[in-house]
Amino acid sequence: MSEFKLKTETQEPDLDTAMKVVYQWNYDPEVDELRNLYNKATEAQWVAEREIDWERPIDLEKFGAVPLGAAIPIEKTSYWKSLSAETKAEVTRKTSAFRLSNFLHGEQGALMVASQLVNAVPHTDAKFYAATQTMDEARHVEVFAKYIEKLDEIRPIAAPLKDILDETLRTDDWLKKLVGMQIVVEGLALYSFREMRNLTEEPLLKDLLTYVARDEARHHAYGVQYVSRCVPQLDDAERTELEDFALEASRTLIDSRNQATFFTEALKIWAEAGIDSEALLTSLQAERDELTKNARPGRRLGPISGFVIPTLRRCGLLSERVAGHFHGFLKENLGTNLVGEDVAQFLEILPDLPEDTASWVMGEVN
Ligand SMILES: [Fe+2]
Ligand SMILES: [Fe+2]
Repeated sequence: MSEFKLKTETQEPDLDTAMKVVYQWNYDPEVDELRNLYNKATEAQWVAEREIDWERPIDLEKFGAVPLGAAIPIEKTSYWKSLSAETKAEVTRKTSAFRLSNFLHGEQGALMVASQLVNAVPHTDAKFYAATQTMDEARHVEVFAKYIEKLDEIRPIAAPLKDILDETLRTDDWLKKLVGMQIVVEGLALYSFREMRNLTEEPLLKDLLTYVARDEARHHAYGVQYVSRCVPQLDDAERTELEDFALEASRTLIDSRNQATFFTEALKIWAEAGIDSEALLTSLQAERDELTKNARPGRRLGPISGFVIPTLRRCGLLSERVAGHFHGFLKENLGTNLVGEDVAQFLEILPDLPEDTASWVMGEVN
């Protein structure tokens, strides 16, 4: 336990936010789906200390099943294959701590936005639901922090994620908070948690992600239920503004410059683990064609096209106009074989949202 002080170096104070608080004097249910979600959420509360067996050591070898997630498959280079088992384990440990740290910081953002929503949303059912989500997010912060500290150390937040959290906390428009958090950030989180949960063979991590992902599926459902009800009541200008907010948040997440920053950060961490960056880059350069050629056919759509944009479509926030912008920047970043030549093709490639997100997240449906 750290010593109690009023101010510590780990605090980052002074982010000015401009939230408007709404009282709602009608306490009757107005939106059955939201009231039901709230009831479900109260039933589904869990106790992290009790439900998860924290005594288990982390099985580092079993981490090996999950790719390091560095945009480029460094695990397939000949340089990587030449490394000792100890070095590989060390790289895996540090890289996983780095990725999980961003999950953790995202959870803190979610905790604060959810609590803002209690104040800012104008419907009682939505306030109730946001209150349960606040509790869920506190628990998620708790479990990720605990896991990372067991694994390695907590790393600083990635700049693009921090930008989105700041923007979402800062806006005085509760609908933008909903779209920024419940659709973009939660969509990204849900997709990533699902992927990591299904791939990992590390038992403690799998356990933790199972509990967390179940909550996240509900958070996403809240966003979809609530936003899709609100959008038809907006005028064109308001809807355009909301679409653009989602577009900018998504763009920040997958912008190639941000991916490059992420890769540079990863290289630094790997150097700490004994990786010779130059030798790795040389090997990558020489084998690049081979690596990307093999990687392409099975390439995943990724969280934005695979989940966030389909969610926006379901909510009525994917006009032809904004779909064009999405297609433009995705094409720039990912190439045409992943997103199609034009908007029409892009819209065809987009998957439908799964009917039952809670089952989907557990890997029961594709
Ligand atoms: Fe969460
Ligand atoms: Fe969440």
